[in-house]
Amino acid sequence: MSSYETLLVERRGRVAVITINRPAKLNALNIQTRAEGAAALDELREDESVRVVVITGAGEKAFVAGADIAEFEGRTAVTQRDVMLGRSLFTAVDTFPKPIIAMINGFCLGGGCELALACDLRVAGENAKFGQPEINLGIIPGGGGTQRLTRLVGEGKAMELILTGDMIDAQAAYNLGLVNMVVPAPDLEGKTMELAGRIASKSPVALRMAKEAVKTASRANLDEGLRREVDLFAICFSSEDKDEGVRAFLEKRKPEFKGR
Ligand code: COA
Repeated sequence: MSSYETLLVERRGRVAVITINRPAKLNALNIQTRAEGAAALDELREDESVRVVVITGAGEKAFVAGADIAEFEGRTAVTQRDVMLGRSLFTAVDTFPKPIIAMINGFCLGGGCELALACDLRVAGENAKFGQPEINLGIIPGGGGTQRLTRLVGEGKAMELILTGDMIDAQAAYNLGLVNMVVPAPDLEGKTMELAGRIASKSPVALRMAKEAVKTASRANLDEGLRREVDLFAICFSSEDKDEGVRAFLEKRKPEFKGR
């Protein structure tokens, strides 16, 4: 695995942990961090030993406090548009074929909230704070926030968060369905790794097809989605993992999935 200047990447068994490592700037996403994040995911995509990825932020204070605002100053709209249309970390996360869990340990704002939204599951420490504060800078979310937040929590609540720029706490985020789980801050890593490990024990083939099928639900109409689901089911049905899963059930033992 390559080494990166703004990220730490480590493997813990079948789970890889990417830590965004700019704690002095509350892990704000600058151009380098986004590029390195996408490159790290490219490496982890190819690595068969990795079945689940966890993304988090370094330090006690922040997951990610947004795009690096210092980079906005003096940049023209055309340059900014080029940056945003270039290789997107959010798209790299969204289209990554294995499950990705956001482990949210503090401020989760702007591009940080959008990064969490692009992940498949979100686990928050009870000290986490969420928001889309772009409106306070005279801009709007540009990393998928208007689209993914709206799909996840509904138009009314997404509109409220995006128009006011207000922050909400972890419990409020849970009540909205923005996070899957809220845990005491000291337990965040343990609970997230336990969840990641549990998912990593499933069939990698089935995980991949399940992720693609669920993602299809917000992109296709119902008939296309149902059709796609059957095709993805059929791929699972032809896998060695399905033979192993069925045999293990009948033999009353735990399955050992190989991702074939
Ligand atoms: N971009 C660049 N730098 C950021 C940043 C961001 N999004 N968020 C925080 N930082 C930097 C601060 O400038 C400060 O750097 P400095 O010590 O060199 O001055 C450092 O991180 C610590 O942040 P600070 O503001 O001092 O911490 P705080 O506890 O007083 O406030 C926040 C925390 C999250 C409320 C505040 O940092 C904030 O509002 N950040 C911007 C959030 C935002 O608007 N994000 C969307 C961007 S589109």
